Amino acid sequence: MSRQYEKLEKCCAYYRSRTGFSPKVGLILGSGLGGYAKNMKVETEIPYGDIPGFPVSTVQGHDGRYLLGYIGRVPAVVMKGRVHYYEGYPMEDVVLPVRLMKKMGIEILFLTNASGGINESFSVGDFMMITDQISSFVPSPLIGENVSELGERFPDMTHIYDRELMEVIKKTAQEEAVELKQGVYLQTSGPNFESPAEIRMYATLGADAVGMSTACEAIAARHAGIRVCGVSCISNMASGLSKEELSHLDVQAVADRRAEEFERLVTRSIEKMETM
Ligand code: HPA
Repeated sequence: MSRQYEKLEKCCAYYRSRTGFSPKVGLILGSGLGGYAKNMKVETEIPYGDIPGFPVSTVQGHDGRYLLGYIGRVPAVVMKGRVHYYEGYPMEDVVLPVRLMKKMGIEILFLTNASGGINESFSVGDFMMITDQISSFVPSPLIGENVSELGERFPDMTHIYDRELMEVIKKTAQEEAVELKQGVYLQTSGPNFESPAEIRMYATLGADAVGMSTACEAIAARHAGIRVCGVSCISNMASGLSKEELSHLDVQAVADRRAEEFERLVTRSIEKMETM
């Protein structure tokens, strides 16, 4: 058994000591969505700090806990707060929470985040459904001994974002009259924002938005056979694309302002995933 799987088994044993709940969908909340609990029927909460060996998020505004309950009729686990690579955890620990959700039983992972817009047709406050990703600027979470209990050594990444789930999100956006852009998300390590020259490079490489999370989680989820989808809130235009300098406070303020609509899009989409 790999060392990482042993660690996961310990986390899982703790989880099972707390609840027998078996969620179908996992949802990771990005900036601004910290108040999501009001959209679900919470049955159990597990602070990350209670779970032995679990990485604990240190970012302001990222309170760390699993919320277990129902989104509509769908049994779900929601991650209020995620761990970022820039906090200093190795990538394999950054994705431990995703792997634990796999062990809880999820089949679908819904990723959300706030990001900087690179595509010049985007505006601050837009929502971008993630159609593909570039993670080449951060280490793969799969480096090291393969966790063969979860997946294979060389997993395919042709369709990281599930085509059927994307259709559900698009249809939901239409029904809810939520404007939805689409594009490629690029993950950097952070924690610094990018330089304008880096953003020009990322644009050349085909990125539409940039952020400091998500792509590594999507890789770990695909490795473990979880179906993945994601939506990003464009909280600012990326460095050099607007006159403003970038600040975490501004990112949070825009994400907060867009939270209600974002939550509606996410909730209505997940409700439709009951039988998928
Ligand atoms: N860059 C990186 N991460 C981000 C940004 C950005 O401009 N906005 C929100 N998260």
